[in-house]
Amino acid sequence: RHEPLVLGIETSCDETGIGIVRGRTLLSNTIASSMDEHARYGGVVPEVAARAHLEALQPAIEAALAEAQVTLDDLDAVAVTSGPGLAGALMVGIGAAKGLAVSLGKPLYAVNHLVGHIAADILDQDAGPLEYPTVALLVSGGHTSLLLVRDLTHDVELLGETVDDAAGEAFDKVARVLGLPYPGGPEIDRAAASGDPGAVAFPRGLSRASDMAEHRYDFSFSGLKTAVARFVEANPEMRADDAGRADIAASFREAVVDVLVTKALNACRDHGVPRLLLGGGVIANRRLREVALERAAAAGVAVRIPPFSLCTDNGAMIAALAAELIASGADPSTLAFGADSTLPV
Ligand code: KG4
Ligand code: ZN
Repeated sequence: RHEPLVLGIETSCDETGIGIVRGRTLLSNTIASSMDEHARYGGVVPEVAARAHLEALQPAIEAALAEAQVTLDDLDAVAVTSGPGLAGALMVGIGAAKGLAVSLGKPLYAVNHLVGHIAADILDQDAGPLEYPTVALLVSGGHTSLLLVRDLTHDVELLGETVDDAAGEAFDKVARVLGLPYPGGPEIDRAAASGDPGAVAFPRGLSRASDMAEHRYDFSFSGLKTAVARFVEANPEMRADDAGRADIAASFREAVVDVLVTKALNACRDHGVPRLLLGGGVIANRRLREVALERAAAAGVAVRIPPFSLCTDNGAMIAALAAELIASGADPSTLAFGADSTLPV
């Protein structure tokens, strides 16, 4: 079978990602990030992100083609994230993808960013082929979603998601409260290393017995963020001291990790699915990886974690999903589609 050569474009947030795959083989994964430009605002600024994509796209496409040692004419298809994400940022990528597809006379595939995150795992050849069904937990600065995946190309069920902040967003906000720079996830991870995770009992959102009927697979991190802020206000001497800050960071991290892993493994057990896939930038968290691997092993659940370069936003995952769609015989998208910032799975 001819494996389709696909170029994927990802511009839903602050990374301009261009990936090239041949079927399930990764040929290149080029990422240009505008994160440094957002750092002084303490979060991603949509207009700044859109303009940065515009500037980064052309060189990123050229770099990806060079790395993959292919030309535009070699491509079988172009793929692009159509949502969810920042509307302006998405539009830049979609415009570029449409322009490429039309000028080259190649089919164009609009791809869902959330499903794309899971497709990243197809490219992780060391772990062997992706087996269905699998539960997938996506945790990043923009999403916290629990999915039941029966088939990537047409059967992805959203089990639950955050009702307020994404997990990464909580890390970023709590980092600010602790006086640590943006992005806060890696900073808190570092600060927490020497802390006691049991020092402060922070709340586990939507984990009470009364939450289990309606919100069994949903997450909430805004109450936790407020609890940390209140605690810091009441205990300023702890924030001022390295050991105290380490204890707060470790206790906060433990609360996030505990609730993420507990709900993901609940989903595995409830659905009789002994497989769990982790994706998204927050998967870089050392405690999350540790606790997920430990508790999953105890529950008889096999965990897959793509390499970090495929966990954060990238174009390769978008190309990989399009290659699966092509293999499944799916029709290409018409040119009529636009950016859908709230696109569901
Ligand atoms: O997937 P990603 O690169 O971009 C989005 O789609 O949002 O995720 C970025 C998020 C940020 O909120 C960042 O603070 C968080 O991932 N993050 C971490 C760690 N490294 C990055 N959160 C916790 N622990 C980490 N080590
Ligand atoms: Zn993402």
